[in-house]
Amino acid sequence: MGTEQRGGAAASEPPRDAPPPPPLFTLAEVAQRNTAREAWLVIRGRVYDVTRFVSEHPGGEEVLLEQAGRDATEPFEDVGHSADAWEMLDQYLIGELHPCDHKPDSSEVPGKPTSNEPSAWTVWLIPILGALVLGLMYRYYVVEGRSS
Ligand code: HEM
Repeated sequence: MGTEQRGGAAASEPPRDAPPPPPLFTLAEVAQRNTAREAWLVIRGRVYDVTRFVSEHPGGEEVLLEQAGRDATEPFEDVGHSADAWEMLDQYLIGELHPCDHKPDSSEVPGKPTSNEPSAWTVWLIPILGALVLGLMYRYYVVEGRSS
């Protein structure tokens, strides 16, 4: 006789087909894997073991090894890698960056400027427009008024 309770799925049990949580690595752990024999890097909060890819990288071994052990998001994106290159990443995925090492301002929307601050030209635009309007008003009311 089975003594296990059945039926009424226990609320604490995770759904049967839920994928296991990915392994988490800290930046310090990733930083230790920066040799020619073992090369890990981080791109968009994900950790990749690119060891076996180093010698195959179309952009050369050197650039890849330079980024090994680091968050390579920026250099990777700056190169403007193709969609194929982005897809290739999946083969080397081994885990995710520990949440405590996530950049506070990257918020997983890379590639997009996150700054909410007005740019320099907007800051100057308002006073310049104001001065222009005042100049025009002066011209209309004072200069034109005098000549008529
Ligand atoms: C696992 C990570 C990476 C993968 C799968 C990857 C893949 C590729 C691929 C497929 C290309 C050929 C061009 C393309 O399809 O875009 C390429 C080129 C290149 N990659 Fe990577 N790459 C990786 C990481 C990096 C990193 C971290 C850098 C650092 C700067 C880098 C720098 C370059 C450069 C400079 C080129 C040559 C671009 C050109 O010739 O126009 N790659 N990479």
